[in-house]
Amino acid sequence: MNYTAPRGTKDVLPPASQAWQKVEMKFRELCKRFSYGEIRTPTFEQTELFARGVGDATDVVQKEMYNFEDKGGRAMTLRPEGTAGVVRAYLEHGLSSLPSPQKFFYIISAFRYEKMQKGRYREFEQMGCECFGSGEPSADAEIISLLWIFFSELGMADISLQLNSIGCPNCRPAYLDQLRGYLRPHLDELCEDCQKRFETNPMRILDCKQESCQAVTKEAPSPLDTLCPDCQAHWDELLRLLDYYEIPYRINKRIVRGLDYYTRTVFEFISENVGSQGTICGGGRYDGLVDELGGQPTPAVGFALGVERLLLELEAQDLLPQLDHQPDIFIASFPSYQDQASAFAYRLRAAGIHAESDILGRSFKAQMKHANRTQARYLMVFGEEEAARMIGKVKRMSDGEELEMSFDELVQFLLQQV
Ligand code: HAM
Repeated sequence: MNYTAPRGTKDVLPPASQAWQKVEMKFRELCKRFSYGEIRTPTFEQTELFARGVGDATDVVQKEMYNFEDKGGRAMTLRPEGTAGVVRAYLEHGLSSLPSPQKFFYIISAFRYEKMQKGRYREFEQMGCECFGSGEPSADAEIISLLWIFFSELGMADISLQLNSIGCPNCRPAYLDQLRGYLRPHLDELCEDCQKRFETNPMRILDCKQESCQAVTKEAPSPLDTLCPDCQAHWDELLRLLDYYEIPYRINKRIVRGLDYYTRTVFEFISENVGSQGTICGGGRYDGLVDELGGQPTPAVGFALGVERLLLELEAQDLLPQLDHQPDIFIASFPSYQDQASAFAYRLRAAGIHAESDILGRSFKAQMKHANRTQARYLMVFGEEEAARMIGKVKRMSDGEELEMSFDELVQFLLQQV
């Protein structure tokens, strides 16, 4: 039998995996600058958590979850996203009684049974942040500014921040009535999914990608037109802050998000390059979720960024982080000096240097061939003289220059080059 990775999943092999490590490291480092601490939650949770948290009527819950019954007969689900699990942990560990705000970041695998497309997988990686305890627009602005710095430091162009407000439980019912009233005469022009959404989740019709639905919703009312005074004030203040920070944005009434927990601010970072899967990052405020999952009412805001889509975008813009897989030094040896050579490689590695030596029992000639293939920066040959005098000759491979020094000096020399 031939085994292959399950449809919608992928293997990430070295050295390409370095690009993943680099964006993850950048994200970690940036989260630290904003005082976000890492949270790790389980890969699977009770199905009920997502049904309640993400929303029964969403595509994610209705069509895309990997549900299973465990051996104890409990209904479990591989997490389709990170927020619900983080809220569960926030409540379970009593973090709501600690001083606000509480800020968390995560780097996780998420699972959705979706139709395969470029940038759309069944197992994918999300890097996300969640901030609990502040209902202020400055919390929304802070989280957006984190993303803006992240994309800027990666050098990304052609990515736009698109924003909307979808109101709160006070003002949304009036908006939904207005929207249904507008859509009702056009029901038969909508796709089959949107005809169902008309009753359960009409706002989602605004972000349907079908041309016929987009044509119908072109002139549809915007939730921004019916915000209650508190939501309006929140929205105005957020825009004022973004203007003040000089973070450019576009207001887009079609940004309504696919998950049910959002209130007020919703946003996406959208690229012009990845086609229909151009949403690299999505997030917003979810002031009702902590309450919904059994806690005290607690305002919260967050986002998640799709790492596969980010890397596709970086590749399209020729911005993939430089890979550095070449060893600093390759130590080739004549057969009787193999132990000394590998012991010296061990010493160099312990000192923090990327060193390679032979572990296949290759001939000297074959080792030299391999050294070339590794593109090592320096080459050292370990033979009788090196073993006797503890002095090594290293050759800089870029120009062939040879340098002679003691082993101790060599360690220091290479450390300066790293
Ligand atoms: P989401 O928009 O469902 O939001 O997902 C966030 C990001 O994950 C998307 O923008 C996309 O880049 C990536 N993504 C989603 N599905 C796939 C897929 N099938 N294949 C590849 N990438 C995908 C959330 O998950 C919310 N939890 C975000 C959030 C956090 N809101 C508040 N806090």
